[in-house]
Amino acid sequence: MNQQKKRILTGDRPTGRLHLGHLVGSLQNRVTLQDQYETLVMVADIQALTDNFKDPGRVRTNILEVVADNLAVGLDPEKSFIFIQSQISEIAELTVIFSNLVSVVELQRNPTIKQEIADKGYLFKGGNVTFGFLGYPVSQAADILFSRANLVPVGEDQLPMIELTRRIAKKFNEYYGEVFPLPEGLVSNTPRLMGLDGRKMSKSFDNAIYLADSKDEIASKVMKAKTDTKAEIVYDPEHKPEVSNLMLYYQIATGKSFRAIEAEFAGQTSYKLFKEKLVMALDEFLSPIRTRREYYTQHPELMLKLLIAGHQKASQEAKVTMELVRQAMKINY
Ligand code: TRP
Repeated sequence: MNQQKKRILTGDRPTGRLHLGHLVGSLQNRVTLQDQYETLVMVADIQALTDNFKDPGRVRTNILEVVADNLAVGLDPEKSFIFIQSQISEIAELTVIFSNLVSVVELQRNPTIKQEIADKGYLFKGGNVTFGFLGYPVSQAADILFSRANLVPVGEDQLPMIELTRRIAKKFNEYYGEVFPLPEGLVSNTPRLMGLDGRKMSKSFDNAIYLADSKDEIASKVMKAKTDTKAEIVYDPEHKPEVSNLMLYYQIATGKSFRAIEAEFAGQTSYKLFKEKLVMALDEFLSPIRTRREYYTQHPELMLKLLIAGHQKASQEAKVTMELVRQAMKINY
């Protein structure tokens, strides 16, 4: 066992299949870095329940979807570990312990949480948010710190959670003794990918391309994607946000620069050809991912085996951390 290797911890909520936004925001980074870092990927079912507490079945059915997505994009089970959050009870213990190190106002100020509460009016009527939802960043700090991780590849919206995690770790170390490394967040350098209608990607808007999408699904979404009246393929996020966003999709799928894409479609007087080529490019790009994904969905027993191995690794690390925490806090009776 290589003790020197630094560690990555990151995770996904199992509320649906993963999409291209997840891929460029976090999945690609974890796949690239898995040779250098010991990588732990968590299926964050407890966090998913904070806004799906009325529908635990939905969370359960999406666990293997998220595992399959991670494996499909190239997370290598020989190098990396995948496990289910709820099975590591030390995370819940740490959440309680960390809750003394965070103020309620600090949680209320978290911009990601604020936005989510606003978006979830149907669940938290009149902003009347649950303790569990408001506090999920504390639980996320426990997700990260239980593993004593050094690096956390995430989407940009998750940076406030990493900041809070660092503050908690710092306070813990200051009050009780040095136990936790201060983890760094790592965001990708791809600009934020929006949905095909220019809004935030969301299942309810049906505006995301999922890693598992077939060519027909890709085509139907892309052909009705929002553009603008000035039919010109020019990268100008300020004046042509929807078209620029579609060009980013094309860039992700082909690796071409925005200049090259502009040159490729110079002189076009409609978006038709661009959209058709975008469909082909996305289909080609996702095809090997889809093939690997199908292999795993046809072999759920393989995924279960990997989850057991991941659980053993996570559980072992959690026990080490808990021992250190109990000693430091003098609760090792
Ligand atoms: N909050 C993350 C998201 O919505 C998922 C997540 C849960 C996570 N626990 C984590 C990410 C720990 C990084 C580290 O995408």
